[in-house]
Amino acid sequence: MVTPLKLWSDEEYKDDTPPIKDLFTHGSSIVAYSGNAYEFLCTLPSGLAQLIITSPPYNVGKEYETRVKIQEYLSKQEKVIDELVRILSDKGSICWQVGNYVENGESFPLDIFYYGLFKDRGLKLRNRIIWRYNHGLHMSKRFSGRYETILWFTKGDDYIFNLDSVRVPSKYPGKRSHKGSNKGKPSGNPMGKNPSDIWDIVVEQWEEEVWEIPQVKAAHPEKTEHPAQYPIELVERCVLALTNEDDWILDPYCGVGSSLIAGLKHNCKVIGCDKEIHYIEIAKERIKAFYTGQLPIRPIERELYKPQGKVSRVPDEWKTGDVKHVYN
Ligand SMILES: C[S@@+](CC[C@H](N)C(=O)[O-])C[C@H]1O[C@@H](n2cnc3c(N)ncnc32)[C@H](O)[C@@H]1O
Repeated sequence: MVTPLKLWSDEEYKDDTPPIKDLFTHGSSIVAYSGNAYEFLCTLPSGLAQLIITSPPYNVGKEYETRVKIQEYLSKQEKVIDELVRILSDKGSICWQVGNYVENGESFPLDIFYYGLFKDRGLKLRNRIIWRYNHGLHMSKRFSGRYETILWFTKGDDYIFNLDSVRVPSKYPGKRSHKGSNKGKPSGNPMGKNPSDIWDIVVEQWEEEVWEIPQVKAAHPEKTEHPAQYPIELVERCVLALTNEDDWILDPYCGVGSSLIAGLKHNCKVIGCDKEIHYIEIAKERIKAFYTGQLPIRPIERELYKPQGKVSRVPDEWKTGDVKHVYN
């Protein structure tokens, strides 16, 4: 049993954290439930959530899941998805973040399977977002995987999309129009450009470090002991674009609460569920730490990590001329 993150003693713990409820009630603003997602979802009112965002178990045999045949895995998820569609508001969005399930070396991209499940229930795909990162295991019999996807669906055609909240600086803001009535005027949007459907958000740096440089394991400021945590920043972009303040955000597989913190950071109400009580305890501690200003969070849009020092240099053994390599 690992002790949950604790940043203060009970005596000195005084803060403005709103009450964290175990079950949803009208009037609550943070709910963190420990138990089975399907059973919990059945207790939530229809049309409540403006944004449902999650990274479900991938059926890859992590410590919190038992691997089963892909069809069995998907049929369990269908029941959950039925409930999620019921809970989603008419103007709402579902963001479903997944990677690959691998069996005997063969890859099954989970988004391909999930697409049909959502489409069959009337949802409309708005983007298939590529979340790209630069770290992870190095494969020997296929190319190393360096992205996962987020399927963004809406329930209808009238949905919230606040593009201005998530614009990013353009590389060339000084560009000017060459023709037409705007000739000579700056051609870009002064608020920045659309961030596109490829997102470079650092995450698995910590996974790599666990294997290769154990002493810098904690280099990512958000890392907890959860084996498949996603970055708060990834969720923040969805929250900013797809919700308004005071909306409800739901994560049915919330792990250590990354989605909940992203929602709270932008003044939304949040509901999370995870079957592992230990993760829910950590999620609660992180929420309290967020309200007391003690939660380490990688700031949104911080520059990507640039390797420095020893680990970024070409090994001396390769410089002898005996080893063929691409570094000059
Ligand atoms: C990919 S992780 C999500 C991690 C989360 N996004 C975070 O940043 O911490 C999937 C989570 O689903 C939980 N889980 C698996 N099966 C579940 C079920 N039937 N009901 C509720 N939670 C479940 C696992 O315990 C795990 O924490």
